[in-house]
Amino acid sequence: MKYDSLLARSFSKHEQKKLGIGAFVSCFILAATFCFLFKPEIRHFRVVNVKVSLRGSPKILAITEEVTKPKKPYFEIEQEKQICNVLHTRADLCEMKGDIRIHGNSSTIFFVSIDDEKKQNSWNIRPYARKGDDRAMDSVTNLIVKKVHISQQIPICTRNYTVPAVVFSTKGYAGNHFHDFSDVLIPLFQTSRRLNGEVQFLITNNMPWWIKKFKAVLQRLSKYETIDVDKEKDVLCFPSMTIGLKANKEFSINTSESSYNMLDFTRFLKSTYSLKRKSAVRLKKNADDDDERRKNKPRLLIISRSRTRRFTNIEEIVALAKSLGFKVGVEETRENLAQVAKKVNSFDVLMGVHGAGLTNMVFLPENASVIQIVGLGMEWVSKEDFEIPAMDMNLKYLGYKISVNESSLIQQYPLEHHVLKDPPGNMISPKGWTSYRKVYLDQQDVKIDVNRFRGTLLKALELLKS
Ligand SMILES: *[C@@H]1O[C@H](CO)[C@@H](O)[C@H](O)[C@H]1NC(C)=O
Ligand SMILES: *[C@@H]1O[C@H](CO)[C@@H](O)[C@H](O)[C@H]1NC(C)=O
Ligand SMILES: *[C@@H]1O[C@H](CO)[C@@H](O)[C@H](O)[C@H]1NC(C)=O
Ligand SMILES: *[C@@H]1O[C@H](CO)[C@@H](O)[C@H](O)[C@H]1NC(C)=O
Ligand SMILES: *[C@@H]1O[C@H](CO)[C@@H](O)[C@H](O)[C@H]1NC(C)=O
Repeated sequence: MKYDSLLARSFSKHEQKKLGIGAFVSCFILAATFCFLFKPEIRHFRVVNVKVSLRGSPKILAITEEVTKPKKPYFEIEQEKQICNVLHTRADLCEMKGDIRIHGNSSTIFFVSIDDEKKQNSWNIRPYARKGDDRAMDSVTNLIVKKVHISQQIPICTRNYTVPAVVFSTKGYAGNHFHDFSDVLIPLFQTSRRLNGEVQFLITNNMPWWIKKFKAVLQRLSKYETIDVDKEKDVLCFPSMTIGLKANKEFSINTSESSYNMLDFTRFLKSTYSLKRKSAVRLKKNADDDDERRKNKPRLLIISRSRTRRFTNIEEIVALAKSLGFKVGVEETRENLAQVAKKVNSFDVLMGVHGAGLTNMVFLPENASVIQIVGLGMEWVSKEDFEIPAMDMNLKYLGYKISVNESSLIQQYPLEHHVLKDPPGNMISPKGWTSYRKVYLDQQDVKIDVNRFRGTLLKALELLKS
């Protein structure tokens, strides 16, 4: 659990700051655009029959007073097993089949059962995959899942669906690029891909700009437009429902707990964004190097950050890379996602200081390389967040651990200071996180010693040889 919360914090704060004004403004703009964009596009709701619309009806406000009189389940009820599993370390998850009714506005889900009446049960579930991290989870709606006996008072279905539903939140750290993938998209893929689009997404803490950012992915996973379930005054009924998302590894998939792996995910993204390059350039091993590079220039993308963890001598790095035969791009990758995906996919090597921009490795062609610049004190977060995931994606990974002299921290602390002498190499305790982050993540820029770094770039070239 500590593990989860720590990773979360490696980017979130500054990202949130960044999001602050931007998101606020874009929220309005995007919300408006979103409504505008989606209104004319009528996508199919698999509503079986909408006879009664109780929208706005005062009766529905007091929903527990609504009683299904002929005590008949909406769908045939299976003798259910375990409904909610709260033992996973990353996320709570409920999976049910039968007669499921959700009243979004009251954050309540009823699972109608024919079990022994005494065996009623209820769970509180926050459908976001960063369990144990209070700062993320506090913003996520607490859904009440109630197993109720058929003889009890149960709200009447006002919209009946035939497809399964998946309920998840776009709060928490969503909006931070890394967390978008680690906490939402990869888990959502694991949860819903097998349904081949025949699934209704019910979103709590709906963020229209988030939906817009990942529209292509969402449309690929579900044929139906997402429902902002918090606003639903109707009672939506489903034959099966998953509450929360399956999550089992940071920015990756634990293949012993999933039928998917990260290659499935990155291939899915490549087809979603129509990315052309499936694999990185292959330089011939024994061909004359200069000749080879002229014909088949490997491309290096340097992710520059502008606020924290900056490269302070980017020109030198670019010059070095060019001298070794790379075609070099420098980007902050802030355009829309389809453009970012296409751009990143056109490169063979992605390089950056530990940070959310490296998340874009998901768009690299297979067998491309990732060079993570590991600043002082960033070893642990670098390994968990990007090194292991990169290898899960069939990418080659190179870590460049900077020396003290390459860190801007030497301008702020005397050489004997423990900040420089003894940077944390392991997991940081939640208590120490804020001060850790302030020093090592927010105040540290990097000046690459190009002579020292040269070997890493040569290694990257080597890795592109078949
Ligand atoms: C939904 O299905 C139930 C059970 O078949 C039925 O009683 C109810 O009228 C249906 N609701 C709507 C809105 O069609
Ligand atoms: C929906 O929830 C809001 C806030 O909790 C409440 O003010 C409103 O009355 C609710 N509406 C319905 C129809 O339940
Ligand atoms: C992956 O799942 C297996 C089986 O549950 C577990 O033993 C292992 O520790 C997990 N690995 C990671 C990296 O989470
Ligand atoms: C990646 O490299 C491995 C080993 O060099 C090779 O077997 C595989 O085919 C490559 N994948 C692609 C997509 O080129
Ligand atoms: C760092 O710089 C100092 C002075 O500029 C030098 O004496 C020292 O050897 C350098 N250390 C490393 C690890 O490069």
